[in-house]
Amino acid sequence: MAGLARIQRIVDQARLTFSASNLSIKDPQFNQNLEELKQAMNSVKPEDFNVSPAIADKEWVYQQGVDVYRANAACMDVGQCKDFSIGIFLLKDGCGLPLHDHPGMHGCMKVLFGEIEITSYCMDESKALKTYESWKGPLVYPCEVLSTKVYRPEDDPITLSPGVGNIHEIQSKPKCMMHDNTDISLASVL
Ligand SMILES: [Fe+2]
Repeated sequence: MAGLARIQRIVDQARLTFSASNLSIKDPQFNQNLEELKQAMNSVKPEDFNVSPAIADKEWVYQQGVDVYRANAACMDVGQCKDFSIGIFLLKDGCGLPLHDHPGMHGCMKVLFGEIEITSYCMDESKALKTYESWKGPLVYPCEVLSTKVYRPEDDPITLSPGVGNIHEIQSKPKCMMHDNTDISLASVL
């Protein structure tokens, strides 16, 4: 029951933090809510979600028609509503989530076990590159690397916000020191 209570605390705090009426980054109350959400995420444990490093020893197999595939990444959908979603990403050692965007979103990620390296980027929409008149594709925006850092379970949750760090790529690192046989990284993403 303690694990369920820890998950419920995250859900309740995420609802408070990300409900549309409270979502103003300039509001001190929003930042206070976000800090309390990070504290709630710091208290959660892998077993609360019924996962452990041993899951890495298994093959993650899925089938489409008659074809069988082995996955190197998986996602557990914990829950979602109109204001936020909660999920668990599992990455086999050395695998990653390629460069992607969370346009206009806030987010928090917590490593539950293993290690991940995150490279975050900032995009300045005011600096859209001029394109040839014949170019009919989307505008091209320059991005700056915000940071490249390895995160572990003892680290505070990583946050992103609209315009700051919401473009990123994630790479699972080799074995975690805390879990000797671990070859996956696990992150909780709001
Ligand atoms: Fe992401």
